[in-house]
Amino acid sequence: MSETTALRWAEKYPELGGEPIPVAPYVSPQAYEAEVEKVFKKTWLRVGRVEEIPNAGDYKVKKLQFAKTSVILIRGKDNVIRGFHNTCSHRGNKVVVETGGDETFGHNKAAVVTCRFHGWVYNATGALVDVPEKEKFHAGFIDEENGLTSIRTDVWEGFIFINLDSSGTQSLKDYLGAMGDHLAGFPYHAMESVFAYNTELNCNWKVAHDAFAEAYHVATIHAGSFPDVFGSGLQDLQLLGDHRTAAVCLTNNAKPKPAAALATSITGASLINFKEKTMLPESVNPSNRKDFAFELTVLFPNILLHISEGLWFTHQFWPMGPNKTRWEGKYYLPKVSSYAERWAQQFAVTLQRNAWLEDTATMEDTQDALESGAKDVMHLQDEEILLRHGYHVLEKYMK
Ligand code: FES
Ligand SMILES: [Fe+2]
Repeated sequence: MSETTALRWAEKYPELGGEPIPVAPYVSPQAYEAEVEKVFKKTWLRVGRVEEIPNAGDYKVKKLQFAKTSVILIRGKDNVIRGFHNTCSHRGNKVVVETGGDETFGHNKAAVVTCRFHGWVYNATGALVDVPEKEKFHAGFIDEENGLTSIRTDVWEGFIFINLDSSGTQSLKDYLGAMGDHLAGFPYHAMESVFAYNTELNCNWKVAHDAFAEAYHVATIHAGSFPDVFGSGLQDLQLLGDHRTAAVCLTNNAKPKPAAALATSITGASLINFKEKTMLPESVNPSNRKDFAFELTVLFPNILLHISEGLWFTHQFWPMGPNKTRWEGKYYLPKVSSYAERWAQQFAVTLQRNAWLEDTATMEDTQDALESGAKDVMHLQDEEILLRHGYHVLEKYMK
């Protein structure tokens, strides 16, 4: 396939069509409700990393507002991480008080959690192990039936996923399918989170997703942070089941300012320079392109996972309402071994933070304008194929 063909992805994936896509799913409360029920309560969702709860008895509580619940992820003495609804079997109080807002962390040496209301105690397998004044409950009260309500939980490459569909049978491995293989083996665990952002945006979760899932906007929106750095076209595109991935590449035209050139010569913490392939999985940048910058992957429904030589980062979009989304961005880099590296990393981090602010700046305006009703459709060009694929996958779930 020639890279110069203007409609190369349409030629490769004719089944996706070339029509404009409808605005309605971005603004309709009914569409939002249907997506929550048919997608977010049915599919595997990333809710953490194993490094966040490294020791037996560590736990994390993650709010899942769209499902009106929160999940306790607790590492047991057997080192297994399990997930449970944060709802007490006695009178339904939250077992762990969510002092941290959307994410609360804690540790209990005995690997148990205790409801603060009346003191019921649950262990890391979810079993009810202590009930104060148990003899005063009526006959027929059986501890074994009153553990925490479990949530299907599994781990892929150190990412903790949950699935709220208690009757679902598809494993996480099967859900990720070929995309799981494509991204496996990258040293995610060898890097640490150097910065994280989250905020609530007044836009539909798809508006936020779409703004990050194409490179067409880079020349305009990122003219400040990344002038003439990235090409607008995607390379090595693969649509793998419900998921999708492509390489974003460098133009090799960029003339970095002196400080940027110095920073990138000290550390590979930024996306703007090419680095030899040493840690990327074989299937990422398979032809070892010299302009490869990073892999842009969408794990359906709401995670963007980007890997590159010596760094990785994620965006995640949690639906909160038809026009409300919690966006979480996290950036991971190797540990530094000198102050020069620390400075160079911070330079890259600042650049990336600015780019993310540029990205998020469009979203609420987009939502407002879509809700005006002035337009019924959006027009996607060939290099916005990840959005087009996303639309079709969502349609499939809606049916
Ligand atoms: S509601 Fe939890 S112990 Fe009473
Ligand atoms: Fe962007």
